[in-house]
Amino acid sequence: MRTGRLKHASLARLTHLFLLLTLLGAGAAFVLRAHGVGWWAFPLGVAGAVAAHLVLVAGLFFVVRQRRAHVHGERSDGDRDGLVLHGARGYDWLVRAVTLGREGKLRRWMLDLGEVRTGSSVLDVGSGTGTLLLAAAARTGPGGVLHGIELSPEMGARAREKARRRGVALTVTEGSATSLPWPDASFDAVFCTLVLHHLPTAVRETAIREMRRVLRQGGRMVLVDWQTPHSLLRTLFSGMGLVYFLHRHAPGGSPLEALATGTLLADLGFARVSRHAFGGGALGAIVAQTGGPAPE
Ligand SMILES: C[S@@+](CC[C@H](N)C(=O)[O-])C[C@H]1O[C@@H](n2cnc3c(N)ncnc32)[C@H](O)[C@@H]1O
Repeated sequence: MRTGRLKHASLARLTHLFLLLTLLGAGAAFVLRAHGVGWWAFPLGVAGAVAAHLVLVAGLFFVVRQRRAHVHGERSDGDRDGLVLHGARGYDWLVRAVTLGREGKLRRWMLDLGEVRTGSSVLDVGSGTGTLLLAAAARTGPGGVLHGIELSPEMGARAREKARRRGVALTVTEGSATSLPWPDASFDAVFCTLVLHHLPTAVRETAIREMRRVLRQGGRMVLVDWQTPHSLLRTLFSGMGLVYFLHRHAPGGSPLEALATGTLLADLGFARVSRHAFGGGALGAIVAQTGGPAPE
């Protein structure tokens, strides 16, 4: 009964989104035409709508594959610690598509927040296909130390393969954010990007405690995740709208609550905590810095 209702609701939402995108394309064409733009306004509008639909279909394809993997028993035991992704190649394409080719800008924003520089030691928790670590390598240089930890064997394998092809030295360990296999105070910067909404609420706190433990004095922990956007229009046009739509799987409830850390960061003794936003505000970041001198 419940499944039937859910299916029906999902179908209705999809149909609405499909119609909305078509109307947006047609509307854009008419507006352009009304402003004296030539006959090519129509193909332009149609091309825009088609591109939006393609991104939508790519996203759905990814979600369906992910769900089928679970239905066919490939769901990992690790899913107790969080929702594990399996479609590694599809993930890279999806991120590229939904950020409308601005993934590089997004990753640079994340690294700026973590103040990653030459020689930094960096940990990426839930490192996915390793894109952030590879971007970090360009800043740390050969003297940097780059580690990732990931529950999904497929995502970890793709990260290692990408690093090998680019000649970057990084290590991705298969494991969980809840039990980081490094001693206290090991890293200058610890990232956890687009992962918290994959974690059940209780697991989130354990993961953040672990990240704090492995952070050096003066180091930065950067948490990036979905939040209520301050501008729906900017969110849609930045390409984040579709991702936003696809993120209803958060095991801890709404994906928009992933950054609601309450008093935890203060309890963990972080000296400075700041909040930041990207893409119309649909993506938020918390930067939490430990006291003491910043790493050299
Ligand atoms: C949306 S992806 C984000 C990947 C990457 N951080 C990025 O920014 O593209 C979330 C990742 O978290 C991983 N994950 C989920 N629960 C985890 C856990 N408890 N420990 C480590 N990784 C986890 C999933 O397998 C998936 O690869």
